[in-house]
Amino acid sequence: MAHTALDPHAPATDAGIPFGVDIDLVTGAMREPDRVLVRRASDMKGYYKDAAALDRLIAAGDPVHYEVFEKVIPETYGHLLFCISKLYPGRVGDECFMTKGHYHTVSGTAETYLCLGGSGHMMCKLADGSWQAEPMCRGRMVYVPPHWGHRSINTGDDPLLSFCVYPAEAGHNYGDIAVEGFPRRVFIRDGREVIE
Ligand code: F6R
Ligand code: ZN
Repeated sequence: MAHTALDPHAPATDAGIPFGVDIDLVTGAMREPDRVLVRRASDMKGYYKDAAALDRLIAAGDPVHYEVFEKVIPETYGHLLFCISKLYPGRVGDECFMTKGHYHTVSGTAETYLCLGGSGHMMCKLADGSWQAEPMCRGRMVYVPPHWGHRSINTGDDPLLSFCVYPAEAGHNYGDIAVEGFPRRVFIRDGREVIE
């Protein structure tokens, strides 16, 4: 995985021993995460329709697009990975901030996203091009079945916060999505959401 370790030498949590994690369900803050993935505008080249608008955003300060907070757990069958995904609000041109999106490397693995705050969509797609956009808002859980690529999209003015759980062996396949793209994008035009 491309996740950055706060302490690259930190051992995986000995998930043979039960442990607890404090999560603020309003702010999404996880206490003492082992790893934090940070993606800025400059990490999103090639993902948005308006490449010039992304370049302007990078030149204007390269804002953080999203952060993922997690505990280190062995990435082996039987374990579960969990994380907090925090996608900031913003637009690239008129396209809503979004995550890169991925299939799972072990594509037959599912994922649940419990939305803790904000609003947007979980854009899901299959390799054959079929797609579905599931609304996300506080208290709504989205189930991403096996084989569906998935990306979160923030259509609101607050961070889109999710608590995600998935099989530890799933892995992340960004390459196929980067090549294929998603069949639909989400824009805000004249104050209205447009999916096209
Ligand atoms: C894990 C998962 C989420 C995302 C996170 C960032 O399988 O789906 O934790 O990893 O929302 O999105 P990506 O990984 O697409 O950059
Ligand atoms: Zn996933």
